Amino acid sequence: MRSFVYSSHPSRVLFGAGTVRQLPYEVDRLGGSRVLVLGRGDTGEAVWKRLGALGVAQFPDAAMHTPVEVTERALAMLAEYGIDCLVSVGGGTSTGLGKAIAIRTGLPHLAVPTTYAGSEVTPVLGETIGGEKTTRTAPGILPETVVYDVELTLGLPVPVSVASGVNAMAHAVEALYSPDANPVIDGFALQAIAAMAGALPRIAEDPSDVDAREEALRAGWLAGTCLAGVGMGLHHKLCHVLGGTFNLPHAQTHTAILPHAMAYNAPAAPDAMRSIAEALGTGDAPTGVYDLIAALDGPTSLGALGMPEAELPRAALLALTSATRSPYPNPREITLSGVEGLLRDAWSGRRPERPADAGPDLGRLTRQVVDSFAGSPNPRVGALLADLVRHLHDFVRSNDVTEEEWLYAIDFLTRTGQISSPKRQEFVLLSDTLGVSSVVDALTNSRTPQTTPSAVLGPFYVSGPPKAEPGADISAGLPGTPLWVDVRVEDPSGKPVAGAVVDVWQSNEDGFYDVQLPELTGPALRARFEADAEGRIRFWSILPSEYPIPGDGPVGQLLDAVGRHPYRAPHLHFMIMAYGYRRLVTQLFVSGGAYLDSDTVFGVKDDLIVDFAPGRGPAPAGREVDGPWHRLEYTFRIAPA
Ligand code: BEZ
Ligand code: FE
Repeated sequence: MRSFVYSSHPSRVLFGAGTVRQLPYEVDRLGGSRVLVLGRGDTGEAVWKRLGALGVAQFPDAAMHTPVEVTERALAMLAEYGIDCLVSVGGGTSTGLGKAIAIRTGLPHLAVPTTYAGSEVTPVLGETIGGEKTTRTAPGILPETVVYDVELTLGLPVPVSVASGVNAMAHAVEALYSPDANPVIDGFALQAIAAMAGALPRIAEDPSDVDAREEALRAGWLAGTCLAGVGMGLHHKLCHVLGGTFNLPHAQTHTAILPHAMAYNAPAAPDAMRSIAEALGTGDAPTGVYDLIAALDGPTSLGALGMPEAELPRAALLALTSATRSPYPNPREITLSGVEGLLRDAWSGRRPERPADAGPDLGRLTRQVVDSFAGSPNPRVGALLADLVRHLHDFVRSNDVTEEEWLYAIDFLTRTGQISSPKRQEFVLLSDTLGVSSVVDALTNSRTPQTTPSAVLGPFYVSGPPKAEPGADISAGLPGTPLWVDVRVEDPSGKPVAGAVVDVWQSNEDGFYDVQLPELTGPALRARFEADAEGRIRFWSILPSEYPIPGDGPVGQLLDAVGRHPYRAPHLHFMIMAYGYRRLVTQLFVSGGAYLDSDTVFGVKDDLIVDFAPGRGPAPAGREVDGPWHRLEYTFRIAPA
């Protein structure tokens, strides 16, 4: 049992695209009517415009590490303009200034973050006073409202996106080995790491990729929530010391330090490292993070950021003494030589040592394959293949698939191809029995909810079936209980679709389709009808029965191997085509029939289960029937194209 304490911080968060349009309402909600905008550039302008008459002054001079002199200049504007609300827009620098003013004045603060720093959801303020960075935490520091607008992040340059994204990853990484770690924050942290690692390469490839930007912004928020929720460790301490004392750029310092801080802590935090490696899809967390940063051309060397080599011992000592003054949690004991070694590695930018037992380095391999699709002339093809490869690699890795198992899988697919022919579609069967056809079908259906649900096509459709007249008998004399089918085709408003072409096909009494019966010379139990002026088609057939899908091929072996039965619930197939409408492929299932709950291709939908009621009175279409017969009545609704 894992006991824990979890504290959440009260802020109101709006997330989306175009959310800045709601700023006037949000300012009003905070009781503001005279806003000071802390921000500059295009994003500052965008917010200024949206505020309209609510914006009374702009302060564009926020500076990194929030020097108090700058805060004092901004404070001087408050009285001059009668400011009653702060809106900060930008990265951690603008948010920091907003916090510094808010905690001194009690003014409400609405943050519009345009990077992934996450500061907007923390009650923590870092300021520089006389060259040294100090940090304090208070509820009044937390912005009341955060408006995340993905559109404002599209222009964030790739290098800044990478540095800021890794900064966010650092919050999530250190949260996982924090002594106050808890399952809620763990969940946020792992989601943030996986999402950021997935989004940054896509942003580097196409900075205007809205989906990738959305993922990164959400990851930044989650990671910020981790930072707010639990104590950070050595990595954050080092970044503060280096930023405050040596004036290194904050986010870039994170990219250079993080892999080495992780390598330092790895022996003392094996569980966290395993989870991080898993989220990154690699065998080893520190090298996984390093490789990600290197692949994105992010800074990996403190030296390249301007840190003098001769200052490394002083930096190590400062980190240690500052740690003694304000202790911070770290899984591994901090020693002077340890920190100095870590800083030397980070200064040189070398890749951390990969532990011998880390397993193969698959992250790089996967990335190489994924990158190989980047030039695809059809971007959809490239994106689908890239994602397929990610999932396949992950499947092989997480299941530790052996060579023998993989060769078996290849042989299985080879046999699936070899047994396939125009009349035997084993790949369709495979897709159906794995439920993939039904997943695709469910997605398709969800786009036209007002129409009749579709159902899988199955392997027994033969195109161009024989045309039949209204009232015809399609059973070709095969034995079975007679069934009168009387169905209508309508559009969503209930208007008949006259002239719709309706193909029907079904199995015989023993569960076989005509194409499975070598003794038959022509088509049976399949036909094409044309709907009349009322959208109706009518014909005689026989009651369908449950049947096993073909079991003499690889798919049959697969079902046997897992102890699954091969049966489909009894049904009739319909394919409905009409000019100006979407084609509908569906099935009607016999209410009360066998296997409705365990159809082997997962094809049954409640709306498609229909009463095949016993027939009463004279049989339709002038037919003489000896004994019982049934009737099926149904109305199909098809969607406009
Ligand atoms: C069918 O209903 O004809 C069918 C559908 C999927 C797999 C096998 C058969
Ligand atoms: Fe069928």
